[in-house]
Amino acid sequence: MTEGQSRNRIDELKELIHYHDHRYYVLADPVIADFEYDQLIKELEKLEAAFPQFVTPDSPTQRVGRDLTKDFGSIKHQFPMLSLANTYDESELSDFDRRVKDILSPNEDVQYIVEFKIDGVSISLRYENGALVTAATRGDGETGEDVTANIRTIKSIPLVVTQKALTALHLHSFEVRGEIFMETGDFEKLNADRLSRGEKTFANPRNFSAGTIKLQDPSIVATRPLKIFTYYLLGHNLPFSSHEENLKALGTMGFRVNPLSRKCVSIEEVIAVCKEFEAMRETLPYEIDGAVIKVNKLEQQRELGSIAKSPRWATAFKFKAKQASTVLEKITWQVGRTGAITPVAELRPVFLAGSTISRATLHNFDEIVRKDIREGDTVLIEKGGDVIPKVVAVVLEARPVDSGKTLPPERCPVCGEPASQDPEEAALYCQNASCPEQIKGKLVHFASRGAMDIEGLGESLVDQFVEKGFLKTFSDIYALKEHHDELIQLDRFGRKSIDNLLTAIEESKKQPFAKVLFALGIRYVGAGAAKKLAEHFADMDELMNAREEEIMAVHEIGESISKSIRSFFDDQKNRELIQQLKTFGLNFTRGERAVIKENFFLGKTFVLTGSMQALSRDDAAAKIAGLGGKTSSSVSKKTDYVIAGENAGSKLKKAQELNVRVLSEEEFINYLEESAGE
Ligand code: IVH
Repeated sequence: MTEGQSRNRIDELKELIHYHDHRYYVLADPVIADFEYDQLIKELEKLEAAFPQFVTPDSPTQRVGRDLTKDFGSIKHQFPMLSLANTYDESELSDFDRRVKDILSPNEDVQYIVEFKIDGVSISLRYENGALVTAATRGDGETGEDVTANIRTIKSIPLVVTQKALTALHLHSFEVRGEIFMETGDFEKLNADRLSRGEKTFANPRNFSAGTIKLQDPSIVATRPLKIFTYYLLGHNLPFSSHEENLKALGTMGFRVNPLSRKCVSIEEVIAVCKEFEAMRETLPYEIDGAVIKVNKLEQQRELGSIAKSPRWATAFKFKAKQASTVLEKITWQVGRTGAITPVAELRPVFLAGSTISRATLHNFDEIVRKDIREGDTVLIEKGGDVIPKVVAVVLEARPVDSGKTLPPERCPVCGEPASQDPEEAALYCQNASCPEQIKGKLVHFASRGAMDIEGLGESLVDQFVEKGFLKTFSDIYALKEHHDELIQLDRFGRKSIDNLLTAIEESKKQPFAKVLFALGIRYVGAGAAKKLAEHFADMDELMNAREEEIMAVHEIGESISKSIRSFFDDQKNRELIQQLKTFGLNFTRGERAVIKENFFLGKTFVLTGSMQALSRDDAAAKIAGLGGKTSSSVSKKTDYVIAGENAGSKLKKAQELNVRVLSEEEFINYLEESAGE
């Protein structure tokens, strides 16, 4: 490209990207896939790098984070926006009640207010002298985004509270917290309209609400039927003494307060109300995902205070996952990389918790036997969180008279070799090591990001290479370069993409020992186990020659992992494979660990729970490991500290029970910084 052509293309790209930014961020209605968008950005970045003289301040590459929502100003919350600990059953609610009463003086009366837990987006509204001055999203709990202009378009939020009400209530400046949501009916209608216009639809009302309050154009927000329920009044020297009175005052001032809240005098009553709420769930015009239980007296709330990021005076009771029933039309069998043959339920499509479901996992053959699941059955399916749906039960009354018991497949559905059941576990296996499906699965795993990280070598390429006979084992990947000319002849490939792939393959040789170990796909050896093993054994030879007991002696490595490793390395074919990979120059040694200086983390054991703002849990664990500390997944007496992020649940509870010290994210970060500085 000449300089002139480049300049024209840069202008063209800038315009295109601005257009797509507008569609995506402002209209929440993109017309191209994220991938295509990224390609445009990449092309622009490349051209600008080659011709820096054409970079202008209005170029989309110059926008920090290129995320228009970052253009919202930020607002520091006067009172942090806490979240709630979750409970899932009656006993956890009783535990909550006990903890509350343990802290308060003996014999004190405790009343609770039970409210709906509205499944929306939380908002904090600041009023000064009765006028709405700011509206902020939760953000990280300390600082939120300023979405005042958008929130002002929501008709049910008072812009001013009448002087009459303020005087009567002795209120001036205060903060109101609530949940912005969209009613299910409105959501479905709007989504259907979008669908008919070929526009992107939203997964659920909550996402639609969240997307809407972050739009850049308040006039679009104004057309969306957002609603609010307020549930929390805050301020200095508020004149009321209970949450109940606060809610009443909110109502008097003209805020929408859910009328179905209930006051309870015992935890038994609370539990009964929670059950009642759960039964009402399907009949409500809006989505709720639980109940919130709050200590009524504000004096008691103050006494109870907060731990980490949630108050001790309130808890959320989460409802069970939503279920739907549909017909199981067929059971199909899939072969994974370990050869495990797993059943999949092909369902008559059904809408459940925001999406249409047509497949669900059946886990393994034992599960089918245990629940006696048959083709043609009407089944209950469930979506827990946002995970893959599963079949929970069969509606026996609806079973067709002519249905027969489901039989395990006698043969692998892919290669046709006989299938066998591992006597020690529920899974059926295809034992044919050259089953194409297994080979493909293993190769894809080997090349995946968490393993050898060979960019470009994904499912579709692996499929082709296996079919063309280029790939049978891992070592073939490193021999691909010998087929350079043949590869270029393959459909859809140019020299460039093949060269990129070969470079990525060479680069992968630098992956550390632990990743190589994980990449081998030894049954039960996940990324975590591979890491533990690589920390313990200095190199592949040491591991390959270790006895089962020696492997089992590694912290957190159990019998099934050690057995599996032993049997993998006892197989002559695998030993040869390792030899070949070694010749290709993969990393088979750990390299010497640097001596770690004395610091807070060295030698201590930590349990991470909840989510953190500043870093992911994996990053946190890596930092701790880097400083010589250990992380474990469960809390015990041996745990030195529990690091509790947001929404920390049962582990935090356990820590309190065992008197294990708890660090907040902030304290943790302080220690990290201190230790890094030492
Ligand atoms: S009270 C300190 N009440 O649930 C207490 N929250 O994890 C703060 N929510 O962030 C919250 N309905 O977005 C409260 N009736 C209700 C609620 C409610 C929904 C949301 C809110 C909060 C989250 C708690």
